[in-house]
Amino acid sequence: MLEGKKILLGVTGGIAAYKAVDIVSRLRKAGAEVRVVMTREATEFVTELTFREISGNPVTVDMWAPIQHWNVAHIALADWADAVLVAPATANILAKAALGVADDMLTTTLLASTSPLFFAPAMNCNMYAHPAVQKNIETLTARGAHIIAPEAGKLACGAEGPGRLAEPPQIVAILDDFFARGGQLSGVKVLVTAAGTIEPIDPVRYIGNRSSGKMGYALAEEAVARGADVVLVSGPSALSAPKGLKTFISVETAQEMREAVLREAEASRIVIKAAAVADYHPKTVAAHKIKKNDEELSITLEKNPDILKELGQRKKKGQILVGFAAETQNLLQYAQEKIEKKNLDFIVANDVTKPGAGFNTSTNIVKLLSRDGAVKEMPLMTKREIAKCIFDYILPDDLGGNN
Ligand code: PMT
Repeated sequence: MLEGKKILLGVTGGIAAYKAVDIVSRLRKAGAEVRVVMTREATEFVTELTFREISGNPVTVDMWAPIQHWNVAHIALADWADAVLVAPATANILAKAALGVADDMLTTTLLASTSPLFFAPAMNCNMYAHPAVQKNIETLTARGAHIIAPEAGKLACGAEGPGRLAEPPQIVAILDDFFARGGQLSGVKVLVTAAGTIEPIDPVRYIGNRSSGKMGYALAEEAVARGADVVLVSGPSALSAPKGLKTFISVETAQEMREAVLREAEASRIVIKAAAVADYHPKTVAAHKIKKNDEELSITLEKNPDILKELGQRKKKGQILVGFAAETQNLLQYAQEKIEKKNLDFIVANDVTKPGAGFNTSTNIVKLLSRDGAVKEMPLMTKREIAKCIFDYILPDDLGGNN
């Protein structure tokens, strides 16, 4: 899948820079054209000449090198690339990219690029575990960048733990897989719901839940990455809408989500309901702010429509309907019951009591259940990685999957 692809490789100043030479060589053997941008620090580890020879292209380091042609170099490089890979990615480049700093050729090019972006971090394990680095990785992931996790092992500094650059064959395989998935869902409409609904009590208060939208947004990003026409219906969320969506519909209440979802589901081949929909809403919404005059306040709640159940009742032949189950006990039993009751093809079950799983985390731990009773257990992974696994699992043969 890399044949003819244009890959821009950013090399930063870490001991693993020497492995980037192998990455270039493997990318070229796979048919890709590679251009390399190095930071000044990277040239302390490997020479420009090495990358020029191995890539067969000029290497860029300096913003102020004599002009070779009348292109604005960082813009031209950014526009040229089908994908940008930074390997090794130091803690420094992750921080700069997360903040949007543009003080050299690589950082400036990263800012100007709209291509898919991959970072392969490599650093000391304590640096990698530092909250600042993890926060930057989270920021970049939330913006749609792909993080190629480092491996654990003996590091160049003598320490042991996660921080070693992923092996070049694995990095190249991840890029290859990315392009393989690129056109897989081209022309296919995918509807995803995300975040929680909020149900007003009065003009200033509401009943809500802890859903951040991260799981649903990751699913929408994955569907976009596979080339689908993606409609994302989202409750309130602090996240920015993923790039490349066909339609983004912002809703607040379960009733509003129902209207949008039923309208959009009609022509959707795949519907995934990751949203945490409120099961009840206040029966009456006070016209004015409720005053705290009494010691107790009772609010009568009325049941919301079960949107997923309605989708199950209306499901058309060939449509793939995927629900989520957020449980705190009897995970498999409750999830299996929901598959039956709501006429689903698959359900993604998460035990939201587990650390690293469920609401408002960047990771999740899920079990994928299909209608035929099969259960696939997934370890702790980022929500973005889980989104990829979910699509791999649910797609039938005619959409390039294994089902
Ligand atoms: O957004 P994050 O912070 O990343 O958190 C992710 C998540 C925990 C919200 C997500 O992984 C998840 O589990 N989403 C479903 C939460 C939920 O509402 O579960 P449930 O078991 O109550 O509902 C089962 C299914 O029915 C869900 O697909 C839900 O969207 C749907 N439903 C529920 C009630 C209702 N009235 N209408 C519905 O469509």
